[in-house]
Amino acid sequence: TISTVTAEQILDSRGNPTVRVSLRLDDGFEAVASAPAGASTGAFEAVELRDGGSAYGGLGVQGAVTAVRTEIGPLLTHHSYNTISDLDRALRDLDGTPNLARLGANAVVAVSIAATRAFAHRAELPLHRWLSLVTGSAERMPVPHFNVLNGGAHAANALDFQEFMIAPVQAATEAEAVQTGAEIYHALARLIREKYAAAGLGDEGGFAPPIDSAEEALDLLVAAITDAGYTPGVDSIAIAMDPAANGFSLGGGRYRLAGRELARDELVDYYENLVDSYPIRSIEDGFAEDDHEGWIALSERLADRIQLVGDDLYVTDAARILDGAHEHYSTAALIKPNQIGTVSQTLDAIAAARSNGMACMVSHRSGETEDTFIADLAVGTGAGQIKSGAPARGERVAKYNRLTQIEAQNPTIPYGLA
Ligand code: PGA
Ligand code: ZN
Repeated sequence: TISTVTAEQILDSRGNPTVRVSLRLDDGFEAVASAPAGASTGAFEAVELRDGGSAYGGLGVQGAVTAVRTEIGPLLTHHSYNTISDLDRALRDLDGTPNLARLGANAVVAVSIAATRAFAHRAELPLHRWLSLVTGSAERMPVPHFNVLNGGAHAANALDFQEFMIAPVQAATEAEAVQTGAEIYHALARLIREKYAAAGLGDEGGFAPPIDSAEEALDLLVAAITDAGYTPGVDSIAIAMDPAANGFSLGGGRYRLAGRELARDELVDYYENLVDSYPIRSIEDGFAEDDHEGWIALSERLADRIQLVGDDLYVTDAARILDGAHEHYSTAALIKPNQIGTVSQTLDAIAAARSNGMACMVSHRSGETEDTFIADLAVGTGAGQIKSGAPARGERVAKYNRLTQIEAQNPTIPYGLA
């Protein structure tokens, strides 16, 4: 049982406040977790509690920290819970709103993740193993999708698409995949330094050179993969993109790319052209979260060729994923625990996707901490895919390093897509 609940305001990787929670158990074990934060958040996500006012530009989380100390603390120390679902339900009931707006999804997700660690500790199991047992999944080392070129809401350049990722699908192990990703990242750094005067980094550690077209970004990736001595290809070193189309949607099924206005069908044509020309295995949020017609049009054209992932479209909500499966919006769901607010609902989202033949990609947020929960989540649920940014910067590599640690300790867990 939980004897003490504490919380603090800490900084995330963007220098904004976030919530860290610590649950001390009777035996002295301390379960710690912290909440990540998105920049290109979906409209249907669970809601963070931010203080407003002038401190930290209004982004303080002292209110959420206080909610953990004064409301969630007594809930957890005065009752005991047998399952993470029971505990998460109690958190939701205490909050009382459908989107966790009162206590804050940032407070609740940190508590739920810490509680999951406490359950695994009580079962004397590593977190990934505990997650595999409660979900009935075979453990799998996920294919990392390294976001090495950043645009959209994550960078100051004029690139409309948010993320360009490389995925070492063909690697034999997680360690080999990480090595491949790091080598290509460095080859890309050399290319960018030769070609552009300045290349800063985006929020997820990828480069943000002054480019404004997806073709330029994709040409750079293919060149970097080749320079590093690898072969670009959907079954070798594949490319994945997250255009994050909310960011360039004009509403009403119209979009603006590189200054040009596109209708739905023109955007579908554009994606198809890119898929014809580059080794793209996956496109996430190719259409805006409210453009269901766009999603259906894209699926009709490309679902049998590549993976189509819903992020803002589904916000890790099982009910929305079920809808998407029935309406044929996409073939995969992005999984971010803080979008829905609790671990058990995250597991429900994965189950909903899976029982409808959809793939899952576990994901970080653009604002991150050193918390590595998503690494264990990806392994334990056998998702087969993860994205955690570039193979550089502490908050990004913390997840990849946790994956290679799990692999080193459990060499029989197979690597690869599910
Ligand atoms: P976010 O971006 O964390 O800023 O929402 C990540 C994504 O869109 O996948
Ligand atoms: Zn996304």
